[in-house]
Amino acid sequence: MDFDKIIERRGTDCEKWDGLKDLFGKEDLLPFWVADMDFESPEEIREALKKRVDHGIFGYSYPSDRLLELIKERIMKKYGWRIEKEWIVLTPGVVPALSIATRALSHPGDEVILQSPVYYPFFSVIENSGCHVVENELTLKNGRYVMDLEGLKGCFRPKKGIVPKERRIKTMLLCSPHNPVGRVWERRELEEAGRIAIDSGAFVISDEIHCEIILKGRHIPFSSIPEFEQRSMVCMSGSKTFNLAGLSTAFVIIPNEEVRKSFVGTRDSLVPEPNVLGLTALEAAFESCDYWLEALLSYLRDNLELVKRFFSRTEVKVIEPEGTYLVWLDFRSLGLSDAELRNALLDGGVALDDGYLFGKCGSGFERLNIACPRAMLEEGLERIGKALEKLF
Ligand SMILES: Cc1ncc(COP(=O)(O)O)c(C=O)c1O
Repeated sequence: MDFDKIIERRGTDCEKWDGLKDLFGKEDLLPFWVADMDFESPEEIREALKKRVDHGIFGYSYPSDRLLELIKERIMKKYGWRIEKEWIVLTPGVVPALSIATRALSHPGDEVILQSPVYYPFFSVIENSGCHVVENELTLKNGRYVMDLEGLKGCFRPKKGIVPKERRIKTMLLCSPHNPVGRVWERRELEEAGRIAIDSGAFVISDEIHCEIILKGRHIPFSSIPEFEQRSMVCMSGSKTFNLAGLSTAFVIIPNEEVRKSFVGTRDSLVPEPNVLGLTALEAAFESCDYWLEALLSYLRDNLELVKRFFSRTEVKVIEPEGTYLVWLDFRSLGLSDAELRNALLDGGVALDDGYLFGKCGSGFERLNIACPRAMLEEGLERIGKALEKLF
């Protein structure tokens, strides 16, 4: 395990590097955008995959009992939440899971609540399901984002001129930990928001894909809060934790039997059987890679310190992430338009995710992915510094 090791990813058809030209219009950029890591996955995962590949037959597969047991044990050990193996449903990713859940629980024309700025596919998941986005913006308070609970209550109130029963809000999408602002929601916050949503009759679909990248605080699965268990589901995966996004495997925990049946029915008509290599990788990850995760978190914390130190000498404010390996940077004091900011960074040779992609309230921000070898991060920060110097 060597997180400093630079591995050439160009030429592997990876979105992060090989997709630069298509997305940003040039190739000679250092990429800090899409949320995958420039680290190789743990050796145990690679060995398990090699063994499975050597078998040579890749027919339809299903999750082994061992994998379900490992998930169950992990959820108990990490969060003290007792789940049943039957509650676990496999999907080819968390985004597909969000779409399946939205389709299973809402009808076209319904409204779905999200809290922005948020991982941009939340918007398309809702819109592509024929539903309408109801946006409750998070509030930036003393450098830390919090939920606007009054705003959230307001989302459920009838709109002027519409009689209450005409409004159909059946679901709320929660991002926990929250991408891009890096919050690891506290129990009190989850309880308060959850009560508002659930008391109003909504079901909560909680995207917890970043739940194992915790830099500070403690992750609490939304459905582990007893009063919410039957009114919510959580979507998890090994893909962020162990860098397995390309293996298209995630799992959803759905305690409510009726909702689970509906979810599985919708899933089976929309997406393929689980990816055999994804199942193999996840099993190996949960079986034997916690030592690697610990080392990863320590490396990421050091990368974050580097970022904080660097920007403390500039006008750019770092919104310190408590979870995720994504850093939300506030460039607003520079007074640039989104286009000027984007162009300055691209001219400087770095590709970040522009804040406005995460909702209107993300304007003036950029998201920096710090899951890369330190030398690459140093070079990227240097390039950002030079790009800013050029402007002023
Ligand atoms: C909050 C969140 N959800 C989902 C995903 C993607 O999930 P998947 O690749 O499993 O569809 C990401 C990836 O960045 C993410 O940040």
